[in-house]
Amino acid sequence: MNRKGGSGKSTLCRALASAAAARGETVTIFDTDTSRSCLHWMAAGRTAGNWSPLVEVVHSLDAFEITEAIAQIYEQPDQEHLVLIDTFGGGAEAQDMLAIAAHRIVSPMMLSRGDLSETRETASWYMNLRGRVDRPEELPGFSVILNRVPLRVSEAERAVAQELFAALPACEAFLSNRTAYVRMDREGLLGEIAEHTPNRGLATHVLNAVKEAAELLDEIDRMIAAPMEVA
Ligand SMILES: Nc1ncnc2c1ncn2[C@@H]1O[C@H](COP(=O)(O)OP(=O)(O)OP(=O)(O)O)[C@@H](O)[C@H]1O
Ligand SMILES: [Mg+2]
Repeated sequence: MNRKGGSGKSTLCRALASAAAARGETVTIFDTDTSRSCLHWMAAGRTAGNWSPLVEVVHSLDAFEITEAIAQIYEQPDQEHLVLIDTFGGGAEAQDMLAIAAHRIVSPMMLSRGDLSETRETASWYMNLRGRVDRPEELPGFSVILNRVPLRVSEAERAVAQELFAALPACEAFLSNRTAYVRMDREGLLGEIAEHTPNRGLATHVLNAVKEAAELLDEIDRMIAAPMEVA
């Protein structure tokens, strides 16, 4: 979640789905965006032959329906099954129910002042949610994930990162600015794209993105296993 449009919510979902599928895990993405961005991504991936039967995208604008579908996933036999909810930008208040259904709320953020201030607003929504629910101790934790981090970070960007780490809980792992993620948006799952890229050099770029997303997925897994209190 991040109320900032274009901060990388859908990209993060797709990258994490790609990493989980590459290691043989089942993935369900709930796409709650009216623009059906992840649903279109699945269609594009299938057309390009870069999809996997392990990954399913379900479009729904109904938080109750999504909560029910998640409950059904829990009833399935024990397995590694990653459930991702891709939310839309804009006001986060409508999304309380989805937040409560989650095991972790992650907020992608690009390294700019504007992104930081909207991410702080998103964190305030989360803190307010803690005040609104009956059992705040049962709410999932909240962490920021840096997205589109350039190869060379400028002084200004470094200052934004420092301010972020001082103000909000943030993951150590992050997503870099990579053309592989742009290819992913157009062509499907990263692991499948790498397999179908004959040029080994280009395939390596895509595999590096899978590796980066897998490290992030591992960190999120660890946070869910041992939740830390929010700052
Ligand atoms: N790590 C990255 N590397 C390269 N391009 C990226 C990266 N993250 C995001 N982008 C690009 O930035 C644009 C916006 O990203 P994305 O659609 O994931 O944002 P969003 O938060 O889902 O937006 P919205 O709020 O509209 O749903 C996309 O064109 C995407 O390809
Ligand atoms: Mg999106």
